[in-house]
Amino acid sequence: TLARLDDVLVQARAAGRGVGAFNVVQLEHAHGLIAAAEETGLPVVLQISENAARYHGSLLGIGTATRVLAEASPATCVVHLDHATDTELVRQAVDLGFTSVMFDGSTLPDEQNRDVTAEVVARCHEAGVSVEAELGEVGGKDGVHAPGVRTDPDDAAAFVDDTGVDALAVAVGSSHAMTERSARLDHTLISRLRDAVPVPLVLHGSSGVPDAEIVRGLRAGLTKVNIATHLNAVFTGDVRRVLGADERLVDTRKYLGPARDALRDETARLLRLLAS
Ligand code: G3H
Ligand code: ZN
Repeated sequence: TLARLDDVLVQARAAGRGVGAFNVVQLEHAHGLIAAAEETGLPVVLQISENAARYHGSLLGIGTATRVLAEASPATCVVHLDHATDTELVRQAVDLGFTSVMFDGSTLPDEQNRDVTAEVVARCHEAGVSVEAELGEVGGKDGVHAPGVRTDPDDAAAFVDDTGVDALAVAVGSSHAMTERSARLDHTLISRLRDAVPVPLVLHGSSGVPDAEIVRGLRAGLTKVNIATHLNAVFTGDVRRVLGADERLVDTRKYLGPARDALRDETARLLRLLAS
């Protein structure tokens, strides 16, 4: 079943739960993530990044397939465009039936981020689509880790008020694309942001954050937890394991299938952890 991001996040926050948001790169990710949501009975955010759309040449194939699978599933699924910097891609996601988009203007000067985000919110809300934005850049996507960047609570409150976004990604110590789970979060800042900002808070770059640290972050006030790299590591690790065991294997289903199932199992574990 398709759901809106704002509905899922507000409900989860009221119940004191977090929500897992995981990236779909190949179709196997969509199948594995949806299977985990079905198995656990918990909502899931299936997110396709601008980079993944670029990889596929377009959002059309992977976006449509993910949306159709989400619609057909009994699980509650948000289909979300992740880290969009191109407003044309946002328009395309809305046309394809995505229920949510993240407009990422975090590398723009704050005023420009505010103005473009406000325009995106106006257009998306008209179409019934929720919007996440980012203030204070969570680095690491370009390989440059900047875990020292922080979002100011007063700036965040003003940004949400000016733009009307439904969720806000904040910089509180994490960094994208970490393959070691060693990041530490600024829990005092998370609590201050939660008190200052009316909408649910989003943690990006959560692959580098240990389980216990994520749980503390949820208690302090985070709601949406974005994890991509860690699940890719699980997926790829399983492909390596299967291919390493049989040099003559050529059927792609023989290694992608087990990898999809490994991704499903780890996702189910994470969904339960975040909801606990
Ligand atoms: O938007 C996606 C997430 O922030 C993923 O970050 O790959 O470091 O887990 P990650
Ligand atoms: Zn991110």
